[in-house]
Amino acid sequence: MKYLILSDIHANQEAFAAILTFVKRKPWDKAVFLGDLVGYGANPNQAVDMLRKLRPLAAIRGNHDKVCSGIEDGELFNRIALEAALWTRKKLTRTNQKWLKALPEGPVVVDGAFAIAHGTPIDEDAYVFGEIEALNVFRHTDFPICFFGHSHFPVIFALSTEAITTVLTVAPSFRLKLKPGVRYLINPGSVGQPRDGNPLTSFAIYDADSKVVTIHRIPYRLRSAQEKILKAGLPRPLADRLAIGR
Ligand SMILES: [Fe+2]
Repeated sequence: MKYLILSDIHANQEAFAAILTFVKRKPWDKAVFLGDLVGYGANPNQAVDMLRKLRPLAAIRGNHDKVCSGIEDGELFNRIALEAALWTRKKLTRTNQKWLKALPEGPVVVDGAFAIAHGTPIDEDAYVFGEIEALNVFRHTDFPICFFGHSHFPVIFALSTEAITTVLTVAPSFRLKLKPGVRYLINPGSVGQPRDGNPLTSFAIYDADSKVVTIHRIPYRLRSAQEKILKAGLPRPLADRLAIGR
């Protein structure tokens, strides 16, 4: 079984569409989503419609989905994130808002093959940036493989009996064969708002039979996504950051 792993789409229709076009040439069976479908970008309804059309095997909520659908009021958000969330709330159709509201909290175990979480399997709003946070997650959970999002930073943490190691991916199609006896925390990166200094959209394909995970980086119509953000009256930094991947 090959899983298409998507995270942090953030209402970026152009990035999402580019991935769907790209994977037409790649074999994959089921889609899985790690949260933050909306917020920041200018096409929240299109993003919800596109994901629903994929009929994901599992989809969980992110912190932006909670604020944009009205589950939380966003008091911890910065000014720009809150402004975008309130704009998104107004734009979402009732049907899409209801669908977002119903997304479950992670972690969710998929096919008994791996777990998914937004921030961490312990706290959906917590970040894993480095090995200290990753080690803490490994210590307090027992998932052999867990895909997570939230940091918008593609990275793989591997815990063997001896040590924890970090794999920072730089190749446009980075492949890693997972080893038996090693545990993994894998972030496929963000579809709609990469923050690792690379503006290319980011996602993963996981082949559960061969145990190979591939993190792909591909270009998309970034200018169009930026123009829509500005035209919608959303804060300019949300458009600017797409070009620099921050
Ligand atoms: Fe996010």
